Amino acid sequence: MTQQKNPKRQRLIAMDHQYVAPAGRVSKFDLVVDHGLGAKIWDVDGNAYIDFLASASAVNVGHGNAKVVAAIHQQTDKLIHYISGYFYHGPAIKLAKRLALLAPGKTPKKVSFSTSGSEAAEAVVKFARSYTKRSVILTFQNSWHGTTLGAASLSAIDGNMHRDIGPLIPDIHHLPFPDPNKRFPGESITDFSSRYLKDFTDLFEHDIPADQVAAILIEPIQGDAGIIMPPNSYMQGLYQLCHENGILFCTDEINQGFGRSGKLWSIDHFNLEPDLMAVGKSLASGMPLSAIIGKAPIMDTLASPANATTTAANPICCAAALATIDELEALHLTERSDELGKFSKTQFLNLQKDFPVIKQVRMVGLNGGIEFEESQTKLVTDLCNYCFEHGLIIISTMDHILRFQPPLVITKDELTQGINIIREGLLKLT
Ligand SMILES: Cc1ncc(COP(=O)(O)O)c(C=O)c1O
Repeated sequence: MTQQKNPKRQRLIAMDHQYVAPAGRVSKFDLVVDHGLGAKIWDVDGNAYIDFLASASAVNVGHGNAKVVAAIHQQTDKLIHYISGYFYHGPAIKLAKRLALLAPGKTPKKVSFSTSGSEAAEAVVKFARSYTKRSVILTFQNSWHGTTLGAASLSAIDGNMHRDIGPLIPDIHHLPFPDPNKRFPGESITDFSSRYLKDFTDLFEHDIPADQVAAILIEPIQGDAGIIMPPNSYMQGLYQLCHENGILFCTDEINQGFGRSGKLWSIDHFNLEPDLMAVGKSLASGMPLSAIIGKAPIMDTLASPANATTTAANPICCAAALATIDELEALHLTERSDELGKFSKTQFLNLQKDFPVIKQVRMVGLNGGIEFEESQTKLVTDLCNYCFEHGLIIISTMDHILRFQPPLVITKDELTQGINIIREGLLKLT
């Protein structure tokens, strides 16, 4: 079905261009969202779309989830907010316990709340520096940890995130991410992992002594880079390197957590226990809530009020998060993500057979990077626009990769319909 009606959309977008600063937008196409249900959204003109983006992996349990909506209503009637830094409230305490118990590993954990993923990533810097009394934080090229000043300093995916805002926060360095596509011909996975791990030992030897490094922060599956998963041998080596050198092993689960990758946490693919872990996005179904979850002795070192903000742990957001986690468990969405990810992978691989311009199909859970030849950025943009005009929301990342992250409640039928729209677009455009 071609989307045709759009008068309201055009009026609102013209107003946006007049009053909203461009820095807060990564423009894709002219969608003005009105409401959503499950894996579908509707625009202000009544056009319906299947959602292959889930608000950037922020609504894993689906749009308008009835249990989450009811929890928000109930809490709104009781209390909209009271600063959690000064006093206590039940939803925050219950949620902290739930998250501490859900985090990987057996070491007792504690939680500190904030509102955006960016702040949670920044909290990694603060807690790690405070605990280790060291300053250097190592992260990775092509990582996205957010856009507040500290989080932008941690990120290294788009130069515009750093342009003209410096100096960035000091002592943050980015190393190459072990993208398995960068293996040399004939290179074994073990050799590949050793080659990328050597970047650290070289750095420690020639530039920054290991005993100056507080933390290594990694997305166990890089999201915005196009769903890139490092080899297990690399992750094990990185973990070992951290622990041999007193460096905290920290993970960013903001994009990949809460079942997105077919495991509850993306680090679960490697059976490792992070010292600190940042969560956000789907934690509260897109309500402004994020958290850092960490080993208790580390979480106890940062002095009060170094991570207190007025609206952190808002009770409505915490109630939404508790209901979100209930739904994730009751609907077995992590298992569903794994199963439907496999189903979708088969369909995308069939598409690849018919359209060799697709270079690679990566899928870990309902979480895919459909990579085209690097020269095909125009085709990928045109394809996303075609999908939008025909009732499917899918965007590109890195300009030549389709980012596939639907709500985990999506049905097989909706997946098939959506992938058929992509097929029709490719037929038309290639
Ligand atoms: C892996 C990762 N970390 C951190 C963030 C930042 O989260 P927020 O946009 O809520 O500040 C994002 C956002 O896309 C992300 O994907």
